[in-house]
Amino acid sequence: MQYSQKVLDHFMHPHNVGKMENPDAVATEGSPSCGDQVTVYLKIDKDSQVIEDISFLSYGCASNIATASIITDLAKGKSLEEAKKITYADAMEALDGLPPVKVHCSVLAADTLQTAISNYEIEHGLKEVPNFGKDTILAELKKIIYPQVGQDIVTLKMVKYVGFSDGEVLIDLNMLSFDSWRDNVVEEIHEHLEKYPEVKKIKVNLP
Ligand code: FES
Repeated sequence: MQYSQKVLDHFMHPHNVGKMENPDAVATEGSPSCGDQVTVYLKIDKDSQVIEDISFLSYGCASNIATASIITDLAKGKSLEEAKKITYADAMEALDGLPPVKVHCSVLAADTLQTAISNYEIEHGLKEVPNFGKDTILAELKKIIYPQVGQDIVTLKMVKYVGFSDGEVLIDLNMLSFDSWRDNVVEEIHEHLEKYPEVKKIKVNLP
């Protein structure tokens, strides 16, 4: 597998690594596709809403470490509003790219940063706990990367329909029977959505 020099540099010498004492916000997220985890800690200036300090702990692969490292570089010194716009695509660009099967590692890092910010905002009354619905489902589906090309299944138009009623999630997926990633994607859909207590049943329809 070919990694860019920047990925190797951040993997060998990660920035902002370590547990933070008394953080203002913290989040730990795991990748359903591989079981790896990232924890992000934030120190936030209450008046300016600027991320004064940020650090991470990684329990994962080289790409996991490198993308968490670059995400902390990108977020440090930014206001919460600016940091909320940081995506996995920004992390990949800053690292000069990742192999397609490793894109989900950058999704994990970006996602953990966004969860830490969201936890801070909820805790400080800056936003309400969002209601579970179709938007939540779509947001989760956008985190699922089709490993062959390294893009999410929503952008690739593999999701034809999303419905939610009486605790049941209904998804129509446009993936052919001979697609070798099909079982993997369906499994990830289950793992992403089963963590929500509102979800009682998940039905994925395939052609
Ligand atoms: Fe698990 Fe990279 S393979 S985060």
